[in-house]
Amino acid sequence: MILLVNGPNLNLLGEREPDVYGRTTLPEVEKLVREACAAWNVEVKAFQSNHEGALVDFIHEHRKAAQGILLNPGALTHTSYVLHDCLKAIPHVPVIEVHLSNIHAREAFRRTSVVAPACRGQITGLGMRGYLLAAEWLCAEVGAVPVERGGAPRL
Ligand code: DQA
Repeated sequence: MILLVNGPNLNLLGEREPDVYGRTTLPEVEKLVREACAAWNVEVKAFQSNHEGALVDFIHEHRKAAQGILLNPGALTHTSYVLHDCLKAIPHVPVIEVHLSNIHAREAFRRTSVVAPACRGQITGLGMRGYLLAAEWLCAEVGAVPVERGGAPRL
């Protein structure tokens, strides 16, 4: 099972600064990630919160069942040592950080991710498709087998 975790303000996807974040809503993102993972027979548990502690509680609660985490921490990316330490506490769970926008090509404060050192990788600036690429990477990483291909390419 993979956790899809979205942080503050991502509940407003679709209506929030669509020129930056696109028009896809969070329920649509969650559906597309679920479908992408279903093609690998991998279940997704999705969660969004505007509260740092709630995100930590969710990750703690599912830390044993989770095989991997797809995380868009929103603005907590740039500030949250709390999330950084939470991910460091579960080193057996691969985490991939995803951003819709290219955080390196925007305001200076967005160029630093304090959670990145606790993640296996980062996908930034590829819009909604970044979530799908991350989902595919995680499925392969946890050793899942793509349903239609019947064989697992180790990427
Ligand atoms: C974001 C980038 C962050 O800087 C911003 O605070 C967000 C969204 C992204 O997906 O591009 O809330 O994580």
